[in-house]
Amino acid sequence: MEFSIKSGGLAGRKSPCLILGILEKRQLTEPARLIDEASGGYLSRILGKGDLDGEAGRTLLLHNLPGLATERVLLVGLGPQEKYDRNNYNKAIAAAVARLNETRAGEALCALPTSAPKGLDLYLAVRDTVTTALDKSYRYERTKSEKKPPNSLKRLYLWIADEEGTSLAKQALRHGHAIAQGVALAKELGDLPGNICTPAYLADQALALAKVFPALRVKILEEADMAKLGMGALLSVSSGSRQPAKLIVMEYRGGKKGAKPVVLVGKGLTFDAGGISLKPGPDMDLMKYDMCGGASVLGALRAALELKLPLNLIGVVPASENLPDGDANKPGDIVTSLSGQTIEILNTDAEGRLILCDSLTYCERFAPAAVIDIATLTGACAIALGRFPSGLFTADEELAAEILAAGDRSGDRAWRLPLWEEYQSLLDSNFADMANVGTREGGAITAACFLSRYTKKYPWAHLDIAGTAWLSGKEKGGTGRPVALLVQFLLARSGEA
Ligand code: BES
Ligand code: MN
Ligand code: ZN
Repeated sequence: MEFSIKSGGLAGRKSPCLILGILEKRQLTEPARLIDEASGGYLSRILGKGDLDGEAGRTLLLHNLPGLATERVLLVGLGPQEKYDRNNYNKAIAAAVARLNETRAGEALCALPTSAPKGLDLYLAVRDTVTTALDKSYRYERTKSEKKPPNSLKRLYLWIADEEGTSLAKQALRHGHAIAQGVALAKELGDLPGNICTPAYLADQALALAKVFPALRVKILEEADMAKLGMGALLSVSSGSRQPAKLIVMEYRGGKKGAKPVVLVGKGLTFDAGGISLKPGPDMDLMKYDMCGGASVLGALRAALELKLPLNLIGVVPASENLPDGDANKPGDIVTSLSGQTIEILNTDAEGRLILCDSLTYCERFAPAAVIDIATLTGACAIALGRFPSGLFTADEELAAEILAAGDRSGDRAWRLPLWEEYQSLLDSNFADMANVGTREGGAITAACFLSRYTKKYPWAHLDIAGTAWLSGKEKGGTGRPVALLVQFLLARSGEA
């Protein structure tokens, strides 16, 4: 789908379809009022019949309105005025796109960004329109024999009342497109099954990204390379799998020479059966999503490359499976990490932190400005926060504020949990420098505490996306989160938004 910005007279504009917002109790938004006037009160008369009250996400398609150049008008409910916020705005965009795809209109002119909802400036309204419209157009088809016909909506023109906003709106289009492409990449990688999306497949995806964006340099570390370095924790996880582990290292130097890079580290566990500490059967298929942290790193990099952001950015994705096997980790095994610290593996299902700790130590070589790791790390985080925010852990107040702000601005929010010293003792081991698990209580925090022991040399934050990376039930599928948060963080660091 393509997007562009339009301004100027609304009523005289030719279009296969004009999208207008209606607030609850049949209240017209300003663009709808303009059209009502131009059509001699036609909209008011139709609404007076009670066919649409304005409930968020409800639509009404009208044809052949008098006095207008547009062939159709699509009315979209925005909910009650006092609750007209970002959520309802995006609900309305999603509903409009879905309804238009049922018509043959092909293109439409959308006047919603101008009817600014609470907390959404023009830039964000335009950007959200693009990200939501593209997100709703995402379809997983790779392993379906019957491909659906392509979406019929091909072009969406966004009408803004004030022509002076055009250059800002165009920037929002660009940013929105890049975010949406990154989200789509992360969703697709997440949705792919474990027998296709293996560690080698993820490595190939990174190489493919470098083909599209030559500014990206990719290095794949093989198990032999990792053994030479001494990544005993990471390799202990992959030893139980027939798929060799890969450490995917992606470098984009778009910033000043010598400027310290931002490093994103993503957990790329392409299937987590738990290992010898085997997970229960029900819903185990969802553990194909255990690479969503890694997928979000690829997605964020893709967006940064598309936008040619002026910063140095490195992505590191440790990729492995976690399966039961004769060579797999056993409870009680002790391994030596790249940092030299020894780890007693009391639960082989706490494997994410084992592949991450060596990757985090590896990051020291980049002298990072900041490292953010992203991981579907603990069920406990999803229990604590539910599915709306990702969990944020960091001892760095500035980095915390930066990440929380990026979450708020992008609508892909995070919520901070404590990383206090008190929790550290829960990782004590009688036989090694630390255990890989603490108690069940506070499990997301002890996991973060574990990682903190490998991140002393740079500013660091950890995002636990166990509750946000995918949806279950009828809507089962990857969400592409937290690509939008990460890109927002990078935009802000680049001074672009
Ligand atoms: N990948 C899982 C975490 C997970 C579980 C994410 C369910 C989303 C939904 C991780 O590797 C894991 O198994 N963690 C354990 C840690 C425990 C053994 C301390 C968990 O959460 O149960
Ligand atoms: Mn696990
Ligand atoms: Zn896992």
